[in-house]
Amino acid sequence: MNSNAGQIHSLRLEHITKRFPGVLASDDISITVRQGEVLALVGENGAGKTTLMNILMGLYQSDEGRILINDEPVRFHSPRDAIAAGLGMVHQQYMLVPNMTVLENVALGYTQAWNPVKLNYGMIRSRIEEISKRYALPVDIDAYIWQLSVGEQQRVELVKTLCLGAKFLILDEPTSALTPQETDDLIALLKRMNSELSIIFISHKLQEVKDLSNKVTILRHGAVVFEGNTADHSSQDIAALMTGREVNLPHREDDFAPGEEALKLEELCVRSDRGFLALNKLDLTIRAGEIMGLAGVSGNGQKELAEAINGLRKTESGKILFFGGNIANRSPAFIIRRGMGYIPEERNEEGIVPSFSMKENFILKDSDQEVYSRHRLLKQKVINERAEELRQQFDIRSPNTTVAAGSLSGGNIQKVILARELTRNPKFLVAVYPTRGLDLGAAEFIHKQLLAKRREGFGILLISEELEEIMNLSDRIAVIFKGQIQRVLNYGEANRRLLGILMAGVQNVEGI
Ligand SMILES: Nc1ncnc2c1ncn2[C@@H]1O[C@H](COP(=O)(O)OP(=O)(O)OP(=O)(O)O)[C@@H](O)[C@H]1O
Ligand SMILES: [Mg+2]
Repeated sequence: MNSNAGQIHSLRLEHITKRFPGVLASDDISITVRQGEVLALVGENGAGKTTLMNILMGLYQSDEGRILINDEPVRFHSPRDAIAAGLGMVHQQYMLVPNMTVLENVALGYTQAWNPVKLNYGMIRSRIEEISKRYALPVDIDAYIWQLSVGEQQRVELVKTLCLGAKFLILDEPTSALTPQETDDLIALLKRMNSELSIIFISHKLQEVKDLSNKVTILRHGAVVFEGNTADHSSQDIAALMTGREVNLPHREDDFAPGEEALKLEELCVRSDRGFLALNKLDLTIRAGEIMGLAGVSGNGQKELAEAINGLRKTESGKILFFGGNIANRSPAFIIRRGMGYIPEERNEEGIVPSFSMKENFILKDSDQEVYSRHRLLKQKVINERAEELRQQFDIRSPNTTVAAGSLSGGNIQKVILARELTRNPKFLVAVYPTRGLDLGAAEFIHKQLLAKRREGFGILLISEELEEIMNLSDRIAVIFKGQIQRVLNYGEANRRLLGILMAGVQNVEGI
């Protein structure tokens, strides 16, 4: 069941141009990757990275230009053709089927790639075992996808792609959803693999680009604006070339005037999808005007905590006091009306309705409000003006506000959610990985917005794995481990090392 594709000595995209209504997504792009090379493809949100890779994989057809493998022109009418030629892509939005197991998902890949007469599950199982052993990529073959953390799903995607015989790997922001540890592991793995494989690697994290790639290509507005050897350029240089300006991530200001208790969690117990207690008598208080960073290795209860607070997961016992009233087990609608804002981890499932337009997504939670509707009729003019205002304020890259939110680039979808949640004027915000997948300039903008909200007296629970982000913004940092708060540190008390030790569950850290 292996691909019969030969070696890919060189892969070349020539003069690729692709237009979407109102957008020139690829503007006469030419790039070459040779065997064993790692090419980093970088650029701001909406620059056209994913589109170019989707063209390479046969998901989209380019309007102009061609693809050559080993100097021979090829045509990919669908991903099946690309896979047969030895290409494989791990997408920015994972494409696994949640209610199927790992084994079934890999098998599905086989049927999509080759349409075999009969699936041999035994063979696929041993192929998964072989790949996962060879590349040190542990996966639970019989687990359902919905039971897996984002990091685990990432691993499954990679295993699936390798099982299908990929010799040329395209990784679209593979690390944006991984923990720092998982990221280090993946980078080490990719370094080991690149003697056998060629890789195109998309990332907003320039340190990774430096660590991993030999060559770097920068896209801006669909066009190549820079190409060079990675070793010859610092990450600061690359950042400047990418954004055309200097980026400085802001820090929390020193004044801290904590207000009333905004959110108080008391002995909170919540179960995970797999049935165990993901939160085990968790206690935590966040005040108005305070950013509380929640640091932890993902899978220690962060997801369950965010969902329970927002009414999306049942609370077993304990209280969620929101400005004094218990909101545990109340409906999401009730909690939203009470003034809760939420930037969820899963932006496509929980954050937006992909088939709705951008402007509809802006008013998703407020369409029944008087500003936007009267007698159940939407006030289109108001909505249009408001949407355009938000689009500009948050620098969302799209031709207009009527495009389907699902057609936006990954980072721009995130900006839509942020624009809605930050400007609805809630009283409190639960922000889960708010800058995941954002380019540096956008991350800077979001950090400034969060700090501005804090100044206005918002309480913010900031859940993140980026220690830099947590340390820059938080007034206090709570470390979560196995569903409990290990310790709460004040601003200035935290450092990378101490956080790392606490996140690993070490209790006795006096003297460190
Ligand atoms: N199916 C589509 N229909 C319409 N427009 C699209 C479609 N896919 C992409 N676009 C547009 O093409 C442009 C490039 O998007 P793309 O997803 O390639 O950006 P990106 O560089 O991957 O950004 P990010 O870093 O945010 O993932 C954007 O303006 C996007 O809105
Ligand atoms: Mg993208």
